[in-house]
Amino acid sequence: MAVLAGLLALFGVWVSLAGPFTTNGTQPGLAFSLLPPSNCQGCHGDYDFAENVEPYPTWSGSMMANSTRDPLFWAALDVANNDVAGIGDWCLRCHAPKAWFSGRSEPPGGTEDGCSLVGNLDARDNDFTGVNCHQCHRMMVNDNPPKGQESVYFENGNMWLDDAVCASGGGSEPCRRGPYNYTANMENPPPHPWAFSDYHVSSDVCGNCHNVTSPVHNLVDESGQDTGVPFPIERTFKEWQQSDFGPGGASEQSCLDCHMQQTEASPVFACLQQSNDRSGNLAIHQFAGANTWIPQVLKGEYPNLSREDAFDATTAWALDMLQNRSATVEVTTLTEAESGGTMEVEVKVTNLTGHKLPTGYPEGRRMWLNVRAVDGADNLLWESGAYDAATGVLTEDAQIKIYRSEPGIYNENGTGECDILDGDGDHIFHFVRNNCYAIDNRIPPLGFTGGSDLETEPKNYTYPETSPGSGILVNYDITPYSIPIPLDAVTPVTVTATLNFQIASNHYVEFLLDQSNENSFPNDCLPRTTGMPTMTRAEILYDMWERYGRAAPVDMDAGNVQAQTTVLFADGFESGDTSSW
Ligand code: HEC
Ligand code: HEC
Ligand code: HEC
Ligand code: HEC
Ligand code: HEC
Repeated sequence: MAVLAGLLALFGVWVSLAGPFTTNGTQPGLAFSLLPPSNCQGCHGDYDFAENVEPYPTWSGSMMANSTRDPLFWAALDVANNDVAGIGDWCLRCHAPKAWFSGRSEPPGGTEDGCSLVGNLDARDNDFTGVNCHQCHRMMVNDNPPKGQESVYFENGNMWLDDAVCASGGGSEPCRRGPYNYTANMENPPPHPWAFSDYHVSSDVCGNCHNVTSPVHNLVDESGQDTGVPFPIERTFKEWQQSDFGPGGASEQSCLDCHMQQTEASPVFACLQQSNDRSGNLAIHQFAGANTWIPQVLKGEYPNLSREDAFDATTAWALDMLQNRSATVEVTTLTEAESGGTMEVEVKVTNLTGHKLPTGYPEGRRMWLNVRAVDGADNLLWESGAYDAATGVLTEDAQIKIYRSEPGIYNENGTGECDILDGDGDHIFHFVRNNCYAIDNRIPPLGFTGGSDLETEPKNYTYPETSPGSGILVNYDITPYSIPIPLDAVTPVTVTATLNFQIASNHYVEFLLDQSNENSFPNDCLPRTTGMPTMTRAEILYDMWERYGRAAPVDMDAGNVQAQTTVLFADGFESGDTSSW
């Protein structure tokens, strides 16, 4: 097989099984198929019960390990396939690499809806194994790419997989590429082929999937002009490159530094054999971001996976990311609280992450400020950004601040605007039909230079430069609020601002269900050990949404300030202190 591919490449004929959307990088039909994660678990898991540092268990609860099980993904996939026939092959490359490389994500070996995936969704070591060990550790920079292709890509999962016998490290299979160089450091080598890889100690390996670009539409500007730039859907990697955390930046930190933190445990080992002490040099496969919801859904719904502890660990890490490493919130009063008057306050949110806050997947994700003014008798005087946990509804009051990126469809014949609502005023989320941005007011990272890059600039929102002409945008946002203080307010008034993050809005979950109903999507075809589902994918998701807290928002950080009211009595006589702090 490898020889055949080599010969064909020699004659300049690249036989590709892949469809029109996924022609770059290694194509399906590997000479060496991907080994199941349990193969790695035998040595890279289950040995250090004191610390949760081993690659297997830490990876296994992550969203990457479960990207092919994620119910939100499957519901969104149906809409995408309905919008652009066959596009699912493109989605499955990143979300189901095992199936994709096996040729089961499009004809002739499969279909773009995932119905040809092999195995049960709630079982391990099959096509549902997500972004997996062997695939990630076979990714490489191709020094000899076929004509017209690049040696390394930074988008759309256009990855090169090592599919040849490893030259170093022995064995008769491809190298497992990683951070260690056993020869140079005279260490005990692994019992399998290995190779030191620069690619795996840099963010580049993440950049391959964490820039998502539309394969069907270009970005259209406010006046409806095609910019010629392929529509940027996610730009996490590029945002990072354009920040102080990026290469050569003042606070250089890779994706790995924040998402695969080094354990402080000592001694510590990467493998059951415990042959090399990795104290100070063992990256934990956390891959935790903002998702605290889906891991809990998977934990509850798929007990057959036996990953309860792993899902809890991922959730705890994601909470730590959100609550301790994402943002600071500060509240300042500009005017005194006067009963019967208006109190002016400002809320400043500063982004501490290595990319926009929030970043990545835009549809349905939102972060907002909940601001509350409470008086001395505990009466809620006023609130902005009120969220009702029972219904999942966020009240969009006049002063609300919601940080989000809202891609939409440019309405050429009608409004001449970037539509994000349908005729009934409901939100629409057409991932693969989108070609414009109604808004992107997500907070830039420190040192952000992307202010006039069409792919990453804020849209319909302004972030000032750090100083005039610096070309660098500030990494914070300031929102003013005018708070009416009732006549009977009791001193002191306390204003508290809390930043909330929600993985999936009610608008999104409801849209997916509407699409499923309107287009009569079929019942989910993916088998479970518990039997075949009797609902559509969107119905399954909606049901989970209702049963698992409607993707409850996470309180990220709160700032508060107390201001004492000047209480005005009926005769105009003032009493009380007017100081604020
Ligand atoms: C998304 C890609 C990705 C996936 C999936 C992944 N790894 Fe890794 N792995 C890495 C990177 C990157 C490093 C190097 C981190 C560093 O040194 O900063 C690494 C390091 C390692 C190491 C060296 C020791 C260490 O932990 O630093 C081992 C062993 C390893 N991985 C095994 C596994 C196993 C087993 C799995 C599946 C359970 C897995 N990896 C899944 C990217 C991945
Ligand atoms: C280039 C790789 C890539 C492609 C192609 C891709 N995705 Fe994703 N997708 C990602 C990454 C990376 C994330 C996580 C980003 C984040 O969390 O911000 C993600 C997240 C998602 C989520 C959010 C899941 C959750 O639990 O919050 C959904 C839904 C989704 N993708 C659907 C799709 C669909 C449908 C397609 C095809 C139309 C697709 N993706 C194509 C990489 C990809
Ligand atoms: C029979 C035991 C065994 C199995 C099974 C095993 N490994 Fe390893 N592996 C090791 C040992 C031992 C090391 C050395 C660990 C160290 O240096 O700390 C290692 C190291 C590695 C490294 C680091 C290589 C480098 O140069 O940095 C990677 C990557 C890796 N393994 C990936 C995998 C993957 C992926 C699987 C499953 C497909 C797997 N291993 C299965 C024993 C094993
Ligand atoms: C300085 C630390 C830091 C660096 C560097 C960093 N991140 Fe993050 N990242 C975070 C924190 C904290 C969060 C949680 C807050 C959030 O969701 O944005 C996060 C969230 C995420 C999410 C969840 C997306 C969302 O907002 O919903 C993804 C995906 C992600 N990071 C990927 C990456 C990738 C890929 C890189 C490298 C290109 C990277 N990160 C670099 C700290 C960092
Ligand atoms: C093969 C494609 C691929 C590669 C390579 C990859 N990712 Fe991902 N990543 C994904 C997909 C797909 C998801 C979303 C899964 C979902 O939510 O359903 C994801 C999700 C994540 C999340 C969780 C986001 C959240 O909302 O909680 C983090 C964090 C993350 N990736 C970090 C990384 C880092 C760090 C690297 C590099 C070491 C990396 N990824 C490499 C495809 C990839």
